[in-house]
Amino acid sequence: MLRSPTAPYVIEKVYLAAPADDEILVRIHAAGFCHTDVLPRDARFTGFPLIVGHEGAGVVERVGAKVSRVAVGDHVVLTFQSCGHCQLCASGRPSYCDSFAKLNASGRNADGSTCVRDEQGEEISARWFGQSSFATHALVTERNAVVVDRDLPLTLLAPLGCGIQSGAGAVMVTFDMKAGESLVVFGAGSVGLSAVLGARAVGAGAIVAVDLHRSRLDMALELGATHAFDAGAEDLVGRIREATGGGAHYAFDTTGVPNVISKAIAAIRKGGACGLVGAPTGDLVISQHALSGKALMRIVEGGVEPHAFIPKMIALWRAGSFPFDKLIKTFPLSQINEAEQSSLSGLVIKPVLVPDKYFG
Ligand SMILES: NC(=O)c1ccc[n+]([C@@H]2O[C@H](COP(=O)([O-])OP(=O)(O)OC[C@H]3O[C@@H](n4cnc5c(N)ncnc54)[C@H](O)[C@@H]3O)[C@@H](O)[C@H]2O)c1
Ligand SMILES: [Zn+2]
Ligand SMILES: [Zn+2]
Repeated sequence: MLRSPTAPYVIEKVYLAAPADDEILVRIHAAGFCHTDVLPRDARFTGFPLIVGHEGAGVVERVGAKVSRVAVGDHVVLTFQSCGHCQLCASGRPSYCDSFAKLNASGRNADGSTCVRDEQGEEISARWFGQSSFATHALVTERNAVVVDRDLPLTLLAPLGCGIQSGAGAVMVTFDMKAGESLVVFGAGSVGLSAVLGARAVGAGAIVAVDLHRSRLDMALELGATHAFDAGAEDLVGRIREATGGGAHYAFDTTGVPNVISKAIAAIRKGGACGLVGAPTGDLVISQHALSGKALMRIVEGGVEPHAFIPKMIALWRAGSFPFDKLIKTFPLSQINEAEQSSLSGLVIKPVLVPDKYFG
């Protein structure tokens, strides 16, 4: 857990409440590290101590009396939480749930309570994205647990529940990209490269990746990008427009950097769309004319319904057309600080933490 924004992670024994009627106790076998797990280190976050981790996968150990779609022994991929009854949840768009921030980014239950205490009885925030899965166990609900086939390695599946669906879903669901259309991705981390994989899976034409790290650009090319440009390249927008035959159909920004977003908008053709996913690093100021005939949208969790989209990604992986396993490097949970550093330095694209008992 994180006891303060600046402290390294510590592993402690804590006490987890028994599952309520609508809850599921999951023994975590793996949890991916997403850049969003770093965001509480921002001084404005007030929920410490906090257990983060929101790309868990594991095996169901107990279910509450009102749980009907998940059974003990099921293998589950965990994803973000949603309320299930607001208008957007009811229309199959749970990532835009009215209660999204409260249920995912507060670390607390909807009523502000918590399900974990430490050995001194102090409350620990343990509902990060409805799961807090950098742990041996997590309490979740049917809404954020997707049952998967038991023959699949949980270590591989863990990151599907956030980073991978956020990239692939943006392209395949929100953009609804068609064969032959073009895409430019700014930031070739786990989310951006998942967008590249999604574009490849739908048979995209030009796929352009832009990043600061040569190693990530090389990975983008390996995964199916047709062009890879350094973020500092001269006349970057011109080069993207040339590579995409006059401007990309879609641009996807994972950096959250305003001047990168301006370039993303300039790099699409009229009739195209630009999706923003990166944690914002500042306010975006653009000429209104820059948006002539272009759509701009902030996309959350790819805009997907995870119960439909996670099985779809798994089917594509089984068919050999969605090789997201190339992004993953596993670490024992006890090396979580090293895993965080490996992500921040750009060395590892998608660290996956495995409780030491299951590692190796
Ligand atoms: N909205 C959502 O649903 C959602 C979901 C998951 C992650 N996120 C956010 O998306 C972002 C990306 O997540 P990630 O896990 O892929 O992170 P990451 O750190 O793995 O990748 C970010 C990439 O952007 C590159 N980059 C940074 N500044 C750049 C610049 N100026 N020009 C070009 N490239 C630049 C970095 O080199 C890195 O490769 C994070 O901000 C994360 O919090 C949002
Ligand atoms: Zn809702
Ligand atoms: Zn995430």
